[in-house]
Amino acid sequence: MILVLLGPPGVGKGTQASRISLHYEIPSISTGAMFRDAIARGTEFGRRIQRYRIDKGEFVPDEVVIDAVRERIHEPDCVKGFLMDGFPRTIPQAETFHRLLAEEKLRLNAVINFSAPIDDIVTRFSGRRVCPVDGSTYHITHQPPLQPGLCDVCGAQLEQRPDDDPVVVKRRLEVYTEKTAPLVEYYQTSGLLRTVDASREPETVFGQVVALLEGWQWHI
Ligand code: AP5
Ligand code: MG
Repeated sequence: MILVLLGPPGVGKGTQASRISLHYEIPSISTGAMFRDAIARGTEFGRRIQRYRIDKGEFVPDEVVIDAVRERIHEPDCVKGFLMDGFPRTIPQAETFHRLLAEEKLRLNAVINFSAPIDDIVTRFSGRRVCPVDGSTYHITHQPPLQPGLCDVCGAQLEQRPDDDPVVVKRRLEVYTEKTAPLVEYYQTSGLLRTVDASREPETVFGQVVALLEGWQWHI
C-alpha cells in the first residue's frame, strides 16, 4: 500500500501517520522530519537544507526533496509499501513522484486529505511539544505527555519546534495555500483523493481513516 497524507501544516498529519504506520505495518516517511533530523545531526545534507530556511517556513527546492525521497523509498523497509507525510507538496513534486513510482512499476493507492478549521490548527501549533531525541509529538492539552514536559518514550525534555513560532506559522500557511493546496484538485481529478474531517479527536480521525481505507475501491 502506498499512501499520501495531504493537509495544511499542523492539521495532524504526523499524528495520524504514526497510527497508520503501526496499523498497516508500513514505514511513515516525513520529508519535514528527515530534514529536521539531518539539520540536528549536522550532516552535509543538513547544512545544505539549513540554507533553504525551513525554520522560517520556506520550502526546500523540488529537486532536493525528490532526490531525498527517491533514496528513501529504495530502502528495504519500503518493499511492502509506505506512507508519505508532507510529500508531495507541490504539483511538480507530485508529477515527479508519479514518474518515480511508474519506473518501479508501483502506483499510488490513495491520498488522504486532512481538513480542519483554521482556529483548530492555530491551537494545535501553539500547544505542540516535540521530543528532540525520538521526534514523538504531544500537545499540552489535547495529547499531554504522562509527565508534564517529558517524553513518554525516552524521558527527554520536550521542546517547541522553531517553525511553530506564530510569525513562521503564518508564513507556512501562506506557502501551503500557494503551493500545496492546488494538489487537492490535482488528486481529486485523478480519483485518488478522499477528505477526512481532522477537527475531531485523534482516535476518531484515525477511525475515519481506517474505515475509508477498508472500504476503498483500491486504485491498483
Ligand atoms: P513538516 O514537518 O511536514 O511540517 P508541516 O506539513 O508544516 O506539518 P506539521 O508537522 O507542522 O503538522 P502535522 O500536520 O504533522 O501535525 P501534527 O501531527 O504534528 O515540514 C516542515 C518543513 O519542512 C516545511 O515547512 C518545509 O519548509 C519543509 N518541507 C517538508 N517537506 C517538504 C516538501 N515536500 N517540499 C518542500 N519543503 C518541504 O499535529 C500538530 C499538533 O496538534 C500536535 O501537538 C498534536 O498533538 C496535535 N493534534 C494532532 N491531531 C490532533 C487532533 N485530532 N485533535 C487535537 N490535537 C491534535
Ligand atoms: Mg508533521
